[in-house]
Amino acid sequence: MISSRFSKIGFILAAVGSAVGLGNIWKFPYVTGEYGGGAFVLVYLITALFIGVFILISELLIGKLGRNDAVSMFENLATKHKKLWKYAGFMAFVPLIILTYYSVVIGWIFHYISISLQGLPHTVEQSTEVFMTLLTTDIQTQLFYHTVVFVLVTAIILRGIKGGIEKINKILMPLLGILLGILLIYSISIDSFSNAFSFMFNPDFSKLSSEAVIVAIGQAFYTLSLGMGIIITYAASLPKDSNIVKSSILISIIDTTVAIVAGLIIFTLLFDKGAESTKGAGLVFISLPSVFYEFGSVGSFLALLFFIAIAFAGITSAVSMIEPAVEYFENRFNFSRIKATMICGILFYLVGVAVLLSNIEAYSEVFKIGEKSLFDWLDFVCSTILVPIGGILVVVFIGHYMDKKEIENELIPVMGEFLTKFWFFMVRFIIPIALVIVILNETGLFKF
Ligand code: PHE
Ligand code: NA
Repeated sequence: MISSRFSKIGFILAAVGSAVGLGNIWKFPYVTGEYGGGAFVLVYLITALFIGVFILISELLIGKLGRNDAVSMFENLATKHKKLWKYAGFMAFVPLIILTYYSVVIGWIFHYISISLQGLPHTVEQSTEVFMTLLTTDIQTQLFYHTVVFVLVTAIILRGIKGGIEKINKILMPLLGILLGILLIYSISIDSFSNAFSFMFNPDFSKLSSEAVIVAIGQAFYTLSLGMGIIITYAASLPKDSNIVKSSILISIIDTTVAIVAGLIIFTLLFDKGAESTKGAGLVFISLPSVFYEFGSVGSFLALLFFIAIAFAGITSAVSMIEPAVEYFENRFNFSRIKATMICGILFYLVGVAVLLSNIEAYSEVFKIGEKSLFDWLDFVCSTILVPIGGILVVVFIGHYMDKKEIENELIPVMGEFLTKFWFFMVRFIIPIALVIVILNETGLFKF
């Protein structure tokens, strides 16, 4: 069973800490750029609300009623086929796989913090070279920072739910808010803010494709840390009298706000220097550094705040990626916290080393499977296949395999009969279908 519990505010901050990550500050702006701005943002807001909040409620409910590790919760709460449902709980290992490469990317961010202090690249060409050198040749730097992330994350996890996870989020989340606030105020003071604003909020529906809709659904999942047992596990340590509907809405609003604010900041800076909005994954690591340089002496300072903000967001997400697996070993095998943490930590550390080597030019052949590097494969398999499958399992489980009375007892008092019915309808029919479409489409089995 779960030993220590979050405080109310501690839980919200921890869930927000998990949700707000590289997905908000790095991925959201570049997919928005790629899929045409305002129209994509609108679709994303609708999916974050309907799919995001509905699944958040589901995951909080499973955790609140289950109060155990993910595997035990699926097993114990299932009204039938307990032995089969147990396996759904192994979705808790998906974030551990994600952490292998997420940690490497946080490492890049640390490197960019030091670049902001030492001197930014002056042109896009230089910026490209700095990034490509790091990515494809610099084993030492990447290994060093990956190790730093490993040490930080395991040190926090070792201190447990209250003393570790809650505490770090209570410190870093407010700081993240302050950093983004400063950057936002600075952006508002520049002329191009209005361009960035209309880029994000003036929908041009001619740019909207069915692919954009599917990407938006995928992003809603990733950004809210859904479908991988994280929120379920955190919710197992909820204080008893928490209102899960309110919490879900709050978490999703904060996560969405951070994504939008990050987008406004990034696009304002880019537009001001005439840089492109559609730069793909290189947006943060290639376009932005040289744009920061063009802002002169204030630029290095802005860059420093910006990369520290992403680092904070990344660390609090990384911590959440390992906790579900740690609790699994603690509960099912009676391992001590130290032993469970070390097993999971070493696992992600070693695979992370392979991931990092897979981007190194000299070794890339060794780690290539087909066209993709190990890095790309893990990201592809996790974000496009395993996470949506996790989402399907959650909604099918809660919609068809849990005690309906028990769910209604939790939900009706906080959201009324009508909304509870509507929620049931969504999780039983609409969301599973939407997710199947996402998987078929993203794996290329069937294109819409
Ligand atoms: N939600 C996080 C983000 O937006 C990513 C994440 C993925 C966190 C998986 C935990 C688990 O960056
Ligand atoms: Na997020």
